[in-house]
Amino acid sequence: MNSDFSEFLSKYLQKSKNSKYSIPLAQPTFDNLDYEQGIKTFLSGNFTMGKKVQEFEKKFAKYLGLNDSGVMLNSGSSANLVALSVLKNLEDKDRLKQGDEVITPAVTWATTVFPISMVGATPVLVDVEKNSYNIDVEQIEKSITKKTKAIMPVHLLGNPCKMDVIMEIAKKHNLYVIEDCCEAHGAKYKGRKVGSFGDLATFSFFVSHHISTMEGGMVLSKNNKFSEIARSLRAFGWIREIKQKKNIEKTYPDIDPRFLFYLPGFNLRPTEIQGSLGATQLPKLEKFIEKRIKNNNYWKKKLSKYEHVINLPNTEKGNRHVYFAYAISLGEKAPFSRKKLVTYLEKKGIETRPVMTGNISLHPALQKIKHKKTGRLPNSTYINNNSFLIGNHEGIDQKEREYVSNVIEEFLKQNGIS
Ligand SMILES: Cc1ncc(COP(=O)(O)O)c(C=O)c1O
Repeated sequence: MNSDFSEFLSKYLQKSKNSKYSIPLAQPTFDNLDYEQGIKTFLSGNFTMGKKVQEFEKKFAKYLGLNDSGVMLNSGSSANLVALSVLKNLEDKDRLKQGDEVITPAVTWATTVFPISMVGATPVLVDVEKNSYNIDVEQIEKSITKKTKAIMPVHLLGNPCKMDVIMEIAKKHNLYVIEDCCEAHGAKYKGRKVGSFGDLATFSFFVSHHISTMEGGMVLSKNNKFSEIARSLRAFGWIREIKQKKNIEKTYPDIDPRFLFYLPGFNLRPTEIQGSLGATQLPKLEKFIEKRIKNNNYWKKKLSKYEHVINLPNTEKGNRHVYFAYAISLGEKAPFSRKKLVTYLEKKGIETRPVMTGNISLHPALQKIKHKKTGRLPNSTYINNNSFLIGNHEGIDQKEREYVSNVIEEFLKQNGIS
C-alpha cells in the first residue's frame, strides 16, 4: 500500500474512534487491507454484484463445506427472508404454503421471526434453555402439528443448537430445517460447522458479527435447486444469475432474456464493496474467533466462583462456541437486581444490552402478526428479565479482560458476595 495512503488511514481511523464506552458492545475489525481493497473496488466502477461478491460467496461456502452455494445478500435479515421464500417458491407439493407453521425460539433476533410471517407462514415460538439460551429441543416435538413445515433453530450468541436431535425430529416429521447462523460464524456442533446440517443456512455480516461487510448476509444450501431460487429471488426474480437459464429462455422466446422475470423476487443485492470486505475479512475469521474464545476462557476462570449468583456462558463438551457476545444471567438467588448490576457496569464504561430481543412474544410488533406459542415460555421470560450482554470481540485484550472481571468482582463484593 502507498505509504501516504497508509498514514492518512491511520490518522483518520484514530479520529473516528468515538465510543463513549471503554468496553463497547462491538468494534469494527477492518484493517488497512480491508480499506484499501474496499476503496479500490469502489474506484473500479463495478458497484453491484460482480467479481468481488462472487469471490466472497465461493470462499465462504468453501469455509463451511457447502461448495458453490453461497448467495450473498444485503443483510442477515434478507438472508432469512430469502431462505423462507425459497421454500415458498418450490414447485412441488412440499412448498411452504400460506398458514403453514415454522417452529423457532422465542429468544432470537426480530428478523428471524418477522420473515416467517412475511412469507405467509405462522411463527410458532418455543421456549429456550436457560443455560444455553438455545431452543429447547424437548419443546419442538410438542409444537408439531399437521401444518408444521419447517424448524428454524438459531445458534444464539454463537452457541450451537443440538443439531443431531433437531435433524432427527425433522427427518421423522418430514420438515425443512433453516439454520439461522447469523451469530455463529465458525461455530461447531460435535466438530461440524453449523450451517452444514440443515436445508438452508443464513449468516449476517453486520459490524458486530465475527466478520463484517458493514451490512451484509448470505444464504447457503446443500441443495443446488435452493441456491438457484435464492439467486433469482435476490435480484428481482430475473433469470440472469440462474445457471439453468437457457431452458427458461427457450420457453419464452418473445421475452428479452435480460429482462425475463421467473420468480416474484426482491432487490436484496449486495454491493461490490461489501463483497470485497467479505473476501479480505474471511482469512481473519479464525483469528477473530480465537480471541473471543480466549476472552471467554479468562472470564470463566476469574468469575466461575460466583456462579451461585451469576450464570456464565456454557456449551456442551465437544462443541465450539464462538461467543457473539458475553452473556451474563442472574442466578435465582442473586441478592441484587439486573438493573443495579447493569447500571454499575455502564457507569464504569462497560456497555450492556438485552439478550437480543429478550422474549420476542412480549414485543408490541407480535400483536400485529399471527403467531403461536408453545406453553408460557418461562425461560425466555427469565432471560428477558434477568440476563444481559457485554461485548466480546477483537478489541478486547488482556487489559480490557482484566478490567471487565475486576469491575464485576468489585460490584459483587460491594453486594456482599464472596
Ligand atoms: C440471530 C439473528 N438473525 C438474524 C439477524 C439479522 O441480521 P442483520 O442485522 O444482518 O440483518 C441477526 C442480527 O444480528 C441475528 O442476530
